[in-house]
Formats: sequence, structure tokens, C-alpha cells
Amino acid sequence: MVNLSKVGDQNYKAYVGPLDRYDFMGATQFRLLSTLGLRSHHKLLDFGCGSLRAGKLFIPYLDASNYFGQDPNQSLIDEGIKKELGESIKDIKKPNFSNLDNFEVGFNEKFDFAVAQSIFSHTNLQLTKKGLLAIYNALSDDGLAVVTIIEGNDYKGVQEWSYPECTTYQPSTIKHVMNEMGFKWRRLYWFHPSQTWFVIAKKKSRLPSFLDTLFLLGGEEVGSSAYKKQHFLSNRLFSIKKKLKRLKGL
Ligand SMILES: C[S@@+](CC[C@H](N)C(=O)[O-])C[C@H]1O[C@@H](n2cnc3c(N)ncnc32)[C@H](O)[C@@H]1O
Repeated sequence: MVNLSKVGDQNYKAYVGPLDRYDFMGATQFRLLSTLGLRSHHKLLDFGCGSLRAGKLFIPYLDASNYFGQDPNQSLIDEGIKKELGESIKDIKKPNFSNLDNFEVGFNEKFDFAVAQSIFSHTNLQLTKKGLLAIYNALSDDGLAVVTIIEGNDYKGVQEWSYPECTTYQPSTIKHVMNEMGFKWRRLYWFHPSQTWFVIAKKKSRLPSFLDTLFLLGGEEVGSSAYKKQHFLSNRLFSIKKKLKRLKGL
């Protein structure tokens, strides 16, 4: 289980995840989105933006008014602005924020890209479906969303939102949900220390190809001693084997 601080914890960094991953988890979101084609003229939804762990990179990168962060905890956003970016960023880059907390999208916009990092790792199935659909509906026709989910046994708890504890879902459940909603989607191998990234689009042609996911979308920290379990080769070999079996109809 990820060691997150409790609600009300004063530390704006520890509230969103392990302190020693604050920098990495922001950087990896930025690297993933820019690898998938995020450019400064695009509009980006950062659903559950927290203390701007990723926003501190996205906001300066994007053109003014193109960053849209949503999080019910305004104090996290305020701390992120104050301690990571400086108040002047508001005038220079004009980021947009919403505190809507009902898993709808709080902006009347169509987005080129959306990211929800470690949001659907805290939701029950109903809230997961609601949030995923809201994000999907807020995408432009060519838009792409990336979300993380933890693969494991299906969450059986009673809470809609479980925090700082995490929820997990079997790969077959995730597949069922994505297909049921009519999403075009792929599981990514983009490295995450504890979760799995998925990419969602309205058009299949917008998804990275299977080969791109294997060879261009890795996200590992080369030579890192911090993350020994990156499983670069075994992960991919297993997946190629599965794909070949499927193609041969075995
Ligand atoms: C594990 S943190 C991840 C934050 C951010 N995505 C990141 O990677 O740093 C989970 C975030 O979900 C936010 N959250 C809680 N309830 C939410 C809701 N109803 N809608 C959107 N975000 C919510 C929390 O305030 C917290 O910032």
C-alpha cells in the first residue's frame, strides 16, 4: 500500500504520495504526456491535480490558459502555487482550477489531453466508471486521456472513495469497464512504481500502436537503483507472447 498522509495532513507533498517520489511522479507524468504529443497549444485537464506535482511542469510548458486542474482540496492547489511555482505564475500562465468533487468535469471545455494519476486507485467501481466516462466525454474527438489503475483483486470495500488506502481491480474487470463504455484504449508499459497506466481515446487511430507501447513508451529511469522492479524485458516479452497466442487463436 502506498504510504499517503491522512486527510488534513499539513504536508502538501506527502498528502499526494510518498515524499521521495514527489519529483519523479511529476516528471513521469510530464514525460508521458509530452511523449504522447502534448504541445504548448494543447488544452490539458489534470483531473485530481493535488498539489501540482505534475502541474508545476505542465503550467509553465503550456500556453497561457491551457492548463485545467481539478481538485476539491483547494489548499493543495494553493500550496503548490505558493511553494512550487510562485504567485506570479497565475498572471503569466493563467491556469484554470475547479474544486468540483462529484467526479464530473468542472470545466465546459473539450480537451486535447487529460491525465488522472492515482485517482482511480482510490475509487470503487461505480465512481471509477463515472469519472472515466466524464473524462472521456470531455475529450475532443482527437483527444487522449491517460489514467492509472492498480491491478490486483477486485476492490470489495464499501467506500466510494478510499484514501489514503488504495483500491485495485483485476485486469479482466478493467478490460470489461473500458469496453463496456465504448472506449478505444490500451494498457501501457510506461513505468510506474506501483500502478499501471492506460491510454484512452475516442478514435482507435489516435492510440499509440502496440509496437509503440512496447518500444517507445517505456518511461523507465535508466540505471535507477530506486526502482529495481522495472521488469522492462519480462513485462514486454510476456505481452508479446500473449499477443502472438491471440493472433494464432490459441
Ligand atoms: C494520490 S493524489 C494524486 C494527485 C495528483 N494526480 C498527483 O499525481 O500528484 C489523489 C488526489 O485526488 C484528489 N481528490 C480527492 N477527491 C477528489 C474528487 N472528488 N475529484 C477529484 N480529485 C479528488 C485528492 O485531493 C488528491 O489530490
